Amino acid sequence: MKKMTDTFKLNNGYEIPCVGFGTWQTPDGDTAIKAVSEAIRAGYCHIDTAACYGNETSVGKGIKVSGVERSRLFVTGKVWNSDRGYGKTMVAFEKTMADLELDYLDLYLIHWPASSTQFEDWEQINLETWRAMTELYKAGRIKAIGVCNFLPHHLKALMETEVQPMVNQIEFHPGQMQEETVSYCKDHNIIVEAWSPLGTGRMLSNEMLKSIAAKYGKSAAQLCIRWCLQNGILPKSVTPSRIIENADVFDFEITNEDMEAINGMEYCGGSGLHPDKVDF
Ligand code: A2P
Repeated sequence: MKKMTDTFKLNNGYEIPCVGFGTWQTPDGDTAIKAVSEAIRAGYCHIDTAACYGNETSVGKGIKVSGVERSRLFVTGKVWNSDRGYGKTMVAFEKTMADLELDYLDLYLIHWPASSTQFEDWEQINLETWRAMTELYKAGRIKAIGVCNFLPHHLKALMETEVQPMVNQIEFHPGQMQEETVSYCKDHNIIVEAWSPLGTGRMLSNEMLKSIAAKYGKSAAQLCIRWCLQNGILPKSVTPSRIIENADVFDFEITNEDMEAINGMEYCGGSGLHPDKVDF
């Protein structure tokens, strides 16, 4: 990967740009409009949003304000947990499209799996949501479909359907590499996308990461993003005020020795959200 517009190929042949601009926790209104339009102007062509972020209308406005043609952008949306199931997913998708003011999505994801902690028929619920996503995909309303936060046991049932997931977006940063899920996805041709590649900011004060980053004349944030890329994983930067810094990760290469040192890091903080234990 040499630049922001370089892509990973999904299992249906559609291409996803290697660095996404995340909008989680970006306040709705002017902040989101500005962040998105500035990110696009800074070269990001992949924008990641979700219904539950509550900022889809502003994200859509930011896309318009940027003046960049829709066909040059890759836009991801996500269906929220309260909209699981066939009928509700269909309605939620239409609302997302109306809020974003777009006529197609590049990627639509199930935000969290229904889990056995909350539902006896969790597997059936996930399959019903997936049936709606598949129908929208086949109708051409979405170019690719996938999931977030699915562990191998959640993915299993979806692998036996007509269209298999193309992406799994999971929490991934130094100290939290989710090896089992990543290896399942690699074996099943699912691209893994990282959310919170900076551990929601927690990685930035890590002394070891800071000292490795200094060797390359880079910040710990840039090191984490580059590390995600070199692991063959798609990072997502949530950084309205550091947009340019986080895009500047294509002029250095982390050595194998440093990659191994980071790969070997113990857990040092993360969201603490476990897909089978969350209560939302
Ligand atoms: P801000 O949005 O104010 O820039 P993650 O992507 O892992 O979820 O982390 C996002 C958090 O890390 C946000 O709090 C963001 O703050 C902060 N952050 C993102 N990029 C940088 C950076 N280059 N330097 C310092 N903090 C950053």
